[in-house]
Amino acid sequence: MSTIEETMREEPETTSTAAAPVAGVVHLAVGDDGIAELRLGAADEHVVTLTRERLESLEAALQRLATTPNLRGVLVTGPGPGMFCAGADIRLIQDITEVAAGEAAAVRGRTMFQRLQQLPVPVVAAIEGPCLGGGLELALCCDLRLASDHKGTQIGLPEVKLGILPGFGGTQNLSRLVGLPTALDLILNGKLLRGKQAKKLGVVDRLVPAARLGAFARRELDRLVAAGHKAPPRRLRGMARWLSTTPLRRLVVRKADRALQQGQARFYPAPRAALHCCVQAFTLPPEQGFAAEARALGELIVSPVSKGLTHLFFLTERSKRLGKLDGARDLDRALVVGGGVMGAGIAGLFATKGLRVRLCDLDLAALARAKARLQKDLTKQLKRRRLERHDAQAIQDRLAVATDWGALQHTDLWLEAVVEDLALKQKLMQDAIARGLPPDAVLATNTSSLPVTDMAAGLPHPERVVGLHFFNPPEKMPLVEVIRGDETSDAAVATACRLAVRLGKFPVVTTDAPGFLVNRCLSPYLNEAARLLLEGTAPEAVDAAMLEFGMPMGPCRLLDEVGFDVASKVSDVMQAAFPDRMVPCELFAAMAAAKAFGQKSGGGLYGANGTGSGPGRAVLATLRRQRGTPPRTASRIEIVQRLVYPLIDEAYRCLDDGVVEAEQDLDLGLVMGIGFPPFTGGITRHAHGVGLATVVATLDELTRTLGTRFQPSDGLRRRALGGRATENPAT
Ligand SMILES: NC(=O)c1ccc[n+]([C@@H]2O[C@H](COP(=O)([O-])OP(=O)(O)OC[C@H]3O[C@@H](n4cnc5c(N)ncnc54)[C@H](O)[C@@H]3O)[C@@H](O)[C@H]2O)c1
Repeated sequence: MSTIEETMREEPETTSTAAAPVAGVVHLAVGDDGIAELRLGAADEHVVTLTRERLESLEAALQRLATTPNLRGVLVTGPGPGMFCAGADIRLIQDITEVAAGEAAAVRGRTMFQRLQQLPVPVVAAIEGPCLGGGLELALCCDLRLASDHKGTQIGLPEVKLGILPGFGGTQNLSRLVGLPTALDLILNGKLLRGKQAKKLGVVDRLVPAARLGAFARRELDRLVAAGHKAPPRRLRGMARWLSTTPLRRLVVRKADRALQQGQARFYPAPRAALHCCVQAFTLPPEQGFAAEARALGELIVSPVSKGLTHLFFLTERSKRLGKLDGARDLDRALVVGGGVMGAGIAGLFATKGLRVRLCDLDLAALARAKARLQKDLTKQLKRRRLERHDAQAIQDRLAVATDWGALQHTDLWLEAVVEDLALKQKLMQDAIARGLPPDAVLATNTSSLPVTDMAAGLPHPERVVGLHFFNPPEKMPLVEVIRGDETSDAAVATACRLAVRLGKFPVVTTDAPGFLVNRCLSPYLNEAARLLLEGTAPEAVDAAMLEFGMPMGPCRLLDEVGFDVASKVSDVMQAAFPDRMVPCELFAAMAAAKAFGQKSGGGLYGANGTGSGPGRAVLATLRRQRGTPPRTASRIEIVQRLVYPLIDEAYRCLDDGVVEAEQDLDLGLVMGIGFPPFTGGITRHAHGVGLATVVATLDELTRTLGTRFQPSDGLRRRALGGRATENPAT
């Protein structure tokens, strides 16, 4: 076969097959039989994104195809097994700051992809691995899409997660292909599909075994070539057609619109814009529909929400890179001691992600609950067809539960999640070593407030003791604080980070300081919420103000979930560390004394199931009476300022004290740890948006009227004076 091997750079056209394919660009080869193969990258490229360079090379390749004589068919493939195209290079999205530039980029991309559609010969896409965003929009311009059943195959348009919409024709082409209800479900939620689901929903035409994807794709292409025509466009049928093209469409639109008004969805404009565009796929002529989509992309791409979400995307990538630090080891056999709320969740997560785990507790009932909890989770996943039955069984088999630890010589991770008691944790670590835990096994603690360094003191090899602070519930919460004790080695930190990434979490490394990052920042926030209650503001008003700000849950409801017993303990630890600034509000101790803990005790500020008033209201009323001051309701703005500005100050204090290394850690840690609104891009971006000088001036005013607990730190003051902050001046 003589080929045109093309890197689509400025290199002269070559007819040689000898040159090694270059990374970063597409490769086009046209055989003597007139069949062209368009590879989206070089074989050794593990991730293919649509960078500027790749888009330019694609544009050149498509122009070349349009003028290739005797062309009979085109096969579009990824660079090799397990990768098609993961979508646009996010840096391109980040760099666009003008609406017109965003719109022009969309027009250019879509026009380019349409060239594929306009070729007079059949075009078949062979999809394996990620086929996302622009990658799918490209595939949608092919006549036929074949997806491999490879487990890495993921197909979808997740653009809304970056605050934008599919702008290379995706809203129009997908809606027309699969109908409005399915397109809305996929685009508005940024859903990713496995090959099988994509076939079921009609996003791809065939599902084929991974090993035979190439051969199948070629056979389908040959079939179309032999028939001498392109594949006829698929027509919508049945309900999909009714709900897309008739007045019944209103029902679909109303339902989607209602969902977009609720909860946190209202802070995100992209799904609303995408909804309009998808509808326009059926109400406007194609060119107008494409133009409207490009305009919408231009507007969204420059929005603060999109900039915040892209910033966050880079932070998640940065966090994932912690999983590749030098000296990291893979861990496979874990022993988890303590099977309560946290231990059971952590052990189940380990088993789900492929570790063999033994969960030990003194209490048989706790162990039975742990098994049942995992079973419930797996059953749910089976019902949603996210898991095959044999995989669910394998996960269950990997979780053993027992009251005794058994032999430890093959254990490479020992983790404790027993009650928050330093002496007990120390003793258990000593026991582990005495019972033959190998010297290179990691000893980890899930403590939320105790010093990791103290736990390691006196142990042989204290360098392998590390904090792995999961959040509740560990199966769902995305953050893990990896705590470096005074003696913890880089290798132990690296190994803990690698484990966190394997578990699908985002690690943030912190020093062994009281409250680490998240609980320390939460402390002034929750304290102030409690103080507002004592002054007379209703829990509902405090929670509503913070929901309006964008938090996923108000602080009063959060206190009920965490439990006032835990909040009271943590606030004592924080007071011991920062006696001047973190004096706990008396509400914590009073609620704990009245056993109005919250959800776990049948109700706290809210009722047992989170609705209505709980027994804690009586405690609150007594404390208010004792204060003897007339009740006062704070405004929404006052609530937000009193809760959020001290949070900003505390975050910067953590940076200045060296608890974390960089502002990025504050942004990621608080979005993933307490749900600080993701659309802000994180707490420091939010603070810069408000203006640090405004934050400081407001805190000064609050100090004057309400007390020294609001006094801003020197670091924050310095930053406010000097523009942008320097990274961690303490280190
Ligand atoms: N609950 C949370 O929200 C949360 C969040 C992050 C971290 N943590 C931390 O995780 C740890 C556990 O918290 P939890 O909420 O799961 O507590 P929990 O009370 O629900 O569970 C503790 C379990 O430890 C068991 N246990 C006690 N002594 C034991 C021993 N000697 N050997 C084996 N098992 C023993 C108990 O029977 C109980 O089942 C604590 O250090 C806590 O600070 C808790």
